[in-house]
Amino acid sequence: MLITFEGIDGAGKSTQVTRLKRRLQESGREVLTLREPGGTEVCENIRELLLQSKHDITPVAELLLFAASRAELVEKVVRPALDKGAVVILDRFSDSTTAYQGYGRGLSLEMLEEVNRIATFGLQPDITFYLDLSPEDAMIRKFSEKSLPLAFDSGELDRMESSGLEFYRRVREGYLRLQEAHPDRILLLDARLPPSTLQETISAHVAHREASPARIP
Ligand code: TYD
Repeated sequence: MLITFEGIDGAGKSTQVTRLKRRLQESGREVLTLREPGGTEVCENIRELLLQSKHDITPVAELLLFAASRAELVEKVVRPALDKGAVVILDRFSDSTTAYQGYGRGLSLEMLEEVNRIATFGLQPDITFYLDLSPEDAMIRKFSEKSLPLAFDSGELDRMESSGLEFYRRVREGYLRLQEAHPDRILLLDARLPPSTLQETISAHVAHREASPARIP
């Protein structure tokens, strides 16, 4: 089973990934968690280039770098783990590309669909949890975690995070549209709820899906 988590930066995905992993392991499942971009040496190098560098990367080049990292991860790690029967939990997958490069950067959605299809080899998540949060709340969370004053030019943000509030508003809009288009796959969750409440909803949803798989693998 492939489970993905989506949402804008600061929505609390990694906390929920860790909690779901623990819960599934307790029930005896083999679980692999990964974050995108990342997961192999090449992917980590691409991550560094995309997030930590101060290079001015064009939107199409950015898209293809995220896609390159995904293709590498799917072929080398995700597909083999799924084939062995493991549950794979991904912190971000192709919906991030649609939301960030499509709605955020304004690239053609048809082109993105094609690139996503190539990069995933057609692999689609069984369940996607979308943690919905306003960009304003996300930024407040991020800065209060680091005890920093709220400022977009503080130098504390990575290359993507420096894209500004308007960019994040478009990304959120993209996620909401994706959820409307795929209501069976994508579960919308209010990221302002307490982490334990979110955890319960997520675990219950996974258990329900395991009991009645929507697709034949
Ligand atoms: P990361 O540090 O993993 O942040 P987060 O905690 O928000 O997941 O950063 C990943 C960044 O890359 C994040 O800003 C979203 C962005 N991204 C894209 O723009 N397109 C993509 O396809 C993916 C996977 C990520």
